[in-house]
Amino acid sequence: RRPILVDCDTGIDDALALAYLLAEPAVEVVGVTTVSGNTDAARAAANTLSLFELAGVHDIPVAIGAHDFRGRAYAGGAPHVHGGDGVGGIALTAAARAHDARPAVELIDHLATRHPDLTVLALGPLTNLAAYAETSGVAACDHLVVMGGAFAHSGNVTAWAEANIHNDPEAAAVVFAQDWDTTLVPLDVTMTQTLDEADLVRLEAIPGALPRALAAMLPLYLDFYAGRVFPDRRCALHDPLAAMVAAGALRGVSVTSGHVDVRLERGERGRTVSSRGSDTQRWVRGMKGSAVEVLLERLEAREWPV
Ligand code: BDR
Ligand code: CA
Repeated sequence: RRPILVDCDTGIDDALALAYLLAEPAVEVVGVTTVSGNTDAARAAANTLSLFELAGVHDIPVAIGAHDFRGRAYAGGAPHVHGGDGVGGIALTAAARAHDARPAVELIDHLATRHPDLTVLALGPLTNLAAYAETSGVAACDHLVVMGGAFAHSGNVTAWAEANIHNDPEAAAVVFAQDWDTTLVPLDVTMTQTLDEADLVRLEAIPGALPRALAAMLPLYLDFYAGRVFPDRRCALHDPLAAMVAAGALRGVSVTSGHVDVRLERGERGRTVSSRGSDTQRWVRGMKGSAVEVLLERLEAREWPV
């Protein structure tokens, strides 16, 4: 099983991605580090620990990372998209287990050293990974998969920029300057993979405390998307799709190879562009099959504590 470390801003679609990864036989989640984005980094860790507890998972370390971004202080998440608590206002019970005391960068280094084949899956702003890249003597990241960016597709924060990159473009620029094997999963492909009301009904029928919590947080996310982003009631599966790419669970993934740059100037701040001349960086342009099908199949196949 492929070892995966998830760096995330737990968040509704982050929660779906984490649940998917717990149910995906091809991978083993060996750690989680959190960053501010959809909510603040400490809350993202608390959310992750609560979700893990619902899943009966008590041994995956969860460390808190950066609260503030490089270019600005964190100034509140996205309560209109993810709720004030980041998970749709569902009043998750606090986990009995505490977060890992190590700073996120230390946990990343520990896990990258222990697992030379570690995949790092970034589902939030790249603040922690930029700090990691700049720490001397750390183990290299074998493969980095990032949910982020928008190339031919328009942005979801500005006309150009996607939220994870827009929140901390300076950090993204540092990460994309590394000689790491990097795959971006941008809006170009995540906006094509959605979950609708019929999928929610199927999720609601899965027995277990974690699927129940996911089904409870989704209506708020659907409310945000319905009418505003999609004409009908459906939401994008950004982070679960990136998790499936990291797990190698999708068929027919097509990519565009090229070095990725991030625009930092006003007006285009957070815009991602790719140019020829790199075979270590790529962005996913398309896939065959259906992410929501993979998500629901995996969640249905696992037995969850009730
Ligand atoms: C990305 O931004 C966050 O709000 C989501 O969790 C996802 O990672 C989508 O732009
Ligand atoms: Ca996220």
